[in-house]
Amino acid sequence: MTTRAIFQRYPELEGHLAWQSLADLPTPVQPLPGTANGWIKRDDLTHAAYGGNKVRKLEFVIAEMQARGVKTAYTFGATGTNAGVAAALMCRQAGVALTVYTFDQPDSPTVQRNQALMRAAGAKLVHRGSLLATVLTFYLHPARLRRDAYFLFAGCSNPVGVLGYVNAALELADQVAAGDLPEPDVIVVPVGSNGTLAGLTVGLHLAGLKSRLVGVRVAASHLGPIATCTTGAVQQMVDQTTAFLRQHVPTLRDLSVRVAPLDDQYFGDGYGVPTTAGQAAMVRFAEDFAIPLEATYTGKAAAAFLDALATTPGPVLFWDTFNSRSTDTLLASLQK
Ligand SMILES: Cc1ncc(COP(=O)(O)O)c(C=O)c1O
Repeated sequence: MTTRAIFQRYPELEGHLAWQSLADLPTPVQPLPGTANGWIKRDDLTHAAYGGNKVRKLEFVIAEMQARGVKTAYTFGATGTNAGVAAALMCRQAGVALTVYTFDQPDSPTVQRNQALMRAAGAKLVHRGSLLATVLTFYLHPARLRRDAYFLFAGCSNPVGVLGYVNAALELADQVAAGDLPEPDVIVVPVGSNGTLAGLTVGLHLAGLKSRLVGVRVAASHLGPIATCTTGAVQQMVDQTTAFLRQHVPTLRDLSVRVAPLDDQYFGDGYGVPTTAGQAAMVRFAEDFAIPLEATYTGKAAAAFLDALATTPGPVLFWDTFNSRSTDTLLASLQK
């Protein structure tokens, strides 16, 4: 597609929102074989080399960097940050130097692989240990005084990144209208840095879809006294997004959107710590649907999805946010 659903619906945003085509959209929607009512939104296929939810956000983030003449970008995430990988790939393509500040996460093959991918894509990795030390490095960075530096919040969840998921919800609504899938009763998605859920919440509201959106919290709710992954934190991101839309789209002057409470039941013992239910869901997705998930985000969300599937008579949609393209192929191409 040469444009995006968000611009088709709100042409007033052209000129106020920089966008660059990076993703292969729309992503497919498919019924899940062997289930009566299970569906999947294949955001694992957003890009031919590296899919997942970050590419949608980066379409707006990279465009904003280019519009501002940015030369250097800084972000932060866990040691195995998927957002860091996606940002490293897209920054490399855009000619922007990226530094990723990292905090501790339980080690796993995915973590190791993501470290290798970020390095191979030319990102500079600086490990800071605790989340607090990492966040302080990011927010107190001396380069904040430079005009050609860009500070990208974790998970690529900054104000323009969130619009990538407003667009995604509008895209889903177009697929429902086209008869590609029935309107879901329930949509399940993992929540880490909040941008995916915030964008989907706003976008589903704008599209008038009645689907109940279930955000499955997979990150710690607080950093000391600061709410990081809570309903309120997502609401703040939603409020920022609706303020932007109210400002630029006259028909949305009165837009106001409420976030549904996050589902805390699948978090387990910590960010990146696998749960039994999450691991069982990963096995089911791999064996029955041939879809690879991971333990930090999508495994936990898939556990919630399978429970919702068992208790909901109508269609239930799993929004797959994890890359499923071969990282062996990607790593080899980067090391050439
Ligand atoms: C695979 C995967 N799924 C889901 C998420 C969560 O999305 P968000 O950070 O927008 O809440 C992330 C990243 O944070 C991720 O890497």
